[in-house]
Amino acid sequence: MAARESILDEIRRCRDRGSVLPGSVYRDPEIFEAEIEALFRPGWMGVACGQNVPEPGDLFPVQIAGHALLLTRDREGEVRVFYNLCRHRGALLASEPCRAQGGRIVCPYHGWSFGLDGRFESAPHFDRTDAAAGPSDADRADLGLIPLRSTVWRDIVFVNLSGDAPPFDAFIAPLEERVRPWTAAELRDLSSVEYEIEANWKLAAENFLDAYHLPIAHPEIGGGFSGALLLEDLEISGDIVGLAMPQGYGPGSGQLESPLPRFSGLGEERQHLEAFVILPNTLLIVEPDIQQVIVLRPRSPGFTEETLASYVVSDASQRKDLASERAELHQSVLLVNDQDAALLAGLQQSRSMDVGGRTRPSPSWDETILRFQRAWANRLLGRPLRAT
Ligand code: FES
Ligand SMILES: [Fe+2]
Repeated sequence: MAARESILDEIRRCRDRGSVLPGSVYRDPEIFEAEIEALFRPGWMGVACGQNVPEPGDLFPVQIAGHALLLTRDREGEVRVFYNLCRHRGALLASEPCRAQGGRIVCPYHGWSFGLDGRFESAPHFDRTDAAAGPSDADRADLGLIPLRSTVWRDIVFVNLSGDAPPFDAFIAPLEERVRPWTAAELRDLSSVEYEIEANWKLAAENFLDAYHLPIAHPEIGGGFSGALLLEDLEISGDIVGLAMPQGYGPGSGQLESPLPRFSGLGEERQHLEAFVILPNTLLIVEPDIQQVIVLRPRSPGFTEETLASYVVSDASQRKDLASERAELHQSVLLVNDQDAALLAGLQQSRSMDVGGRTRPSPSWDETILRFQRAWANRLLGRPLRAT
């Protein structure tokens, strides 16, 4: 444990003097274990989006922070989250997105089946006879899938592994207040894509808060530095950091003239983009005519799975004559994320070298990233969870 203590001391020193985190926090397996315990288990983590299970009976398995979970949408349209664990011998109930056959989740190992609400339904030849007898009612009640505490906010599915986090509504209240004008009821699915990122999850979160790279790494978005220079840092709570800036990163980008409908309740002063990291792993962007969500699912220190889900606004966005605008928007979201995935793999490689921590954040641009790092360090080093 000596190594671990020395890393924690270094993180504490970096936090206290406001300097950048050491490269080891992006590659060290002990830090990875520690952050699962300190950040992912006790609080609310995003796991995927409602858009991943659009229809009742859809199944979407995810692996996150050492846990295999199964999302489904039940007959009433509610999203439910269970451990992806058959109650017989513990097989994975689904290993890729699929549909429940006949409204039942059937284990691929010995065929036990469960309802979309997790109730045990049947087991082939349970009593090893040809009779149709199953387990007793008491046993059946105890054989259902194991549910997790979960909730859906702006179509993001959040889970609390420990079961004793403060109520989600209290956790999210400061951000809910901030983004209320981008009315959640007006969101309509545009697309969702799964990514595999060859990088530590924190690099993806930091990149998300990095407005400085936008005009250089994503020139197709247009606007140059004129919009990025208007960047405003936002601190919403100890667990939520963000920024505000003009949409499309500047006038003349083309996005400002988009014919796609806008959120109806958005005043003149909010016709811009706001981006937030909801610690630990959920990234949210709201713009006048689009919402984007990235859920980061760490698999190992250097590998992260990601759901990227996009939304347009109101039923009017579904009009046939807007099909090409919707397709174009989807393509531009993919392009930006592909560009970021390549950059992140490079950042991870550099963090693997001894000199990986010898980076120098720009005091003018990178304050938002440093605030994310401070919030991460506070949680890792044991600041108690707060309700707000
Ligand atoms: S492990 Fe699922 S039916 Fe046996
Ligand atoms: Fe980017």
